[in-house]
Amino acid sequence: VREDAASVAEYVANYILGRIKDFGPSPTRPFVLGLPTGSSPMAVYQILAAKYKAGEVSFENVITFNMDEYVGVPRDHPQSYHSFMWNHFFSHVNCRPENVHILNGNAPDVEAGCAQFEAAIEAVGGIDLFLAGVGEDGHVAFNEPGSSLASRTRVKTLAYDTILANSRFFDNDVSQVPKMALTVGVRTVLDAREVVTIALGARKAVALQRCIENGVNHMWTLSALQLHRHSMVVADEDATLEL
Ligand code: GLP
Repeated sequence: VREDAASVAEYVANYILGRIKDFGPSPTRPFVLGLPTGSSPMAVYQILAAKYKAGEVSFENVITFNMDEYVGVPRDHPQSYHSFMWNHFFSHVNCRPENVHILNGNAPDVEAGCAQFEAAIEAVGGIDLFLAGVGEDGHVAFNEPGSSLASRTRVKTLAYDTILANSRFFDNDVSQVPKMALTVGVRTVLDAREVVTIALGARKAVALQRCIENGVNHMWTLSALQLHRHSMVVADEDATLEL
């Protein structure tokens, strides 16, 4: 638990930096990083970009996989997760474009794209560290309440609560928010060697309580991380109000 959002970001950015440095400049064994979108990781991306500019870290040997993407939102739409990631992170660091993996929500065969995504993760030896956020309904990535805890990358219909929460990015107009998304599964997240989840603000407090203090439950999918041997939640004080 850290006092506020800024200290959470500082902690998480330094933590990731340390992990990347552990791997050193090794083209034969790159560091594989899973990444989320949303407001929670934004300050982390800013700090990582600043550390790159200061010469403290290189992303040349970092392979990334994003957690999710909307279905049917054009790639260059400002709210596509593709745009989000390039605008907030990839354009500001030396990631190699061929090392960046983001699900394509406009592919003619999205299911095949999901299977290819899982195969690509496997081909590089799995994800070393998955950074995550948490939805107000306790979802991880877009694994909405009721998702199988054994799920893998697939198409998912968004819960109304999520559509409502994400309407703030679409002129507060629920009708503009996509109703479906592609998302890694709960199992995909659990398969990562390490998971770091950011939880910020009082609106995440109930989710954090359900996921941490209640049992493992497919209605609060982040709770599955209780089964992970190397997982941590980094929260600000407000997010811990219900604990
Ligand atoms: C979306 C994303 C999640 C993210 C969640 C929380 O639903 N699919 O991956 O964790 O929102 O977003 P925020 O960090 O903006 O609160």
